[in-house]
Amino acid sequence: METKGVLSDGTKVAVKQLKAGSGQGEREFQAEIHIISRVHHRHLVSLLGYCIIGSQRFLVYDFVPNKTLEFHLHEKRRPVLEWRKRMKIALGAAKGLAYLHEDCNPKTIHRDVKAANILIDDSFEAKLADFGLAKSSLDTDTHVSTRIMGTFGYLAPEYASSGKLTDKSDVFSFGVVLLELITGRRPVDKSQPFADDDSIVDWAKPLMIQALNDGNFDGLVDPRLEDNFDISEMSRMVACAAASVRHSAKRRPKMSQIVRAFEGNISLDDLTEGVTPCHNTIYSLDDSSDYSSTRYKEDLKKFEKMAFESQTFASSECTGLTTSDNGQNPSGTSSSSIIIEGQHATQEIEPQRQ
Ligand SMILES: Nc1ncnc2c1ncn2[C@@H]1O[C@H](COP(=O)(O)OP(=O)(O)O)[C@@H](O)[C@H]1O
Ligand SMILES: [Mg+2]
Repeated sequence: METKGVLSDGTKVAVKQLKAGSGQGEREFQAEIHIISRVHHRHLVSLLGYCIIGSQRFLVYDFVPNKTLEFHLHEKRRPVLEWRKRMKIALGAAKGLAYLHEDCNPKTIHRDVKAANILIDDSFEAKLADFGLAKSSLDTDTHVSTRIMGTFGYLAPEYASSGKLTDKSDVFSFGVVLLELITGRRPVDKSQPFADDDSIVDWAKPLMIQALNDGNFDGLVDPRLEDNFDISEMSRMVACAAASVRHSAKRRPKMSQIVRAFEGNISLDDLTEGVTPCHNTIYSLDDSSDYSSTRYKEDLKKFEKMAFESQTFASSECTGLTTSDNGQNPSGTSSSSIIIEGQHATQEIEPQRQ
């Protein structure tokens, strides 16, 4: 997706070329320029410039040297990603997202939060990337999206079913990233299915309740970590993940609350303060939303079916293969791969309205 380059002053850059002549490519190009040129934060990639040559579109970013979270967590034959680094990445990404949602002007929803869009630098600081799908919340306040955008496995239930977009859909996707950090598993993995559960979220829920209620993390935490993690940090991350993936968008915390929970500045009970009437049920997770877990599974199945039927879909998340496993680049995606391998798994579909 990206080529590495060097400017005449020695600055290292990443150049993304968007697929020429595709409407989706043009939309993503415009969105990235409009949004990312306005946002400046140490946990968001910086856009240095762009270039239009005929029908070709290029975006030029500050180069982030150490690949992505997806690479460090899931790529085969990688050393285990240490707990300390996982915490640092989670906190950095949370700060970047909190800034986008709450502090920048206009407030912005990313819409494609996932491990492959979290870049890592040499000191394992996280930088959120890929603003091709981002939307100003001004555009979304009164608007139900006609297209569902995002990545299978990370989509918030209300967004998958009705196209209703709020910052809380990013919070859900961020919760899925936290589950990856905790468990070391991919959100959708055909080679290692989640027993009867279709998603990492349904699989992890009872294990998170057990962990938070009686401190038993067995079966939940990435076995590769062995016992090399701090139990109170792990509890904090599990509590943040559990609150973030609630079915009810209203009951998910804001990103700034997640940042404070990570920093140990609010008690875990306060994670849901003001959004849940009943504090002692914080770890029950059984939120009484009219959107049931069964319904969510049905929506995801529909989404998956459409995704597989669509020619433009090329997702490692769905096949469980990585680009290096099959030696091929995904084809038909909105950008072309040149040097750095990326996995484009973003899908654009029409929602099914009942
Ligand atoms: N600033 C950057 N520095 C280094 N690598 C980058 C940078 N931006 C993107 N990449 C690499 O290119 C891949 C694809 O970039 P991304 O912006 O996510 O585009 P896409 O829309 O193709 O997913 C990323 O997963 C990452 O591996
Ligand atoms: Mg991407």
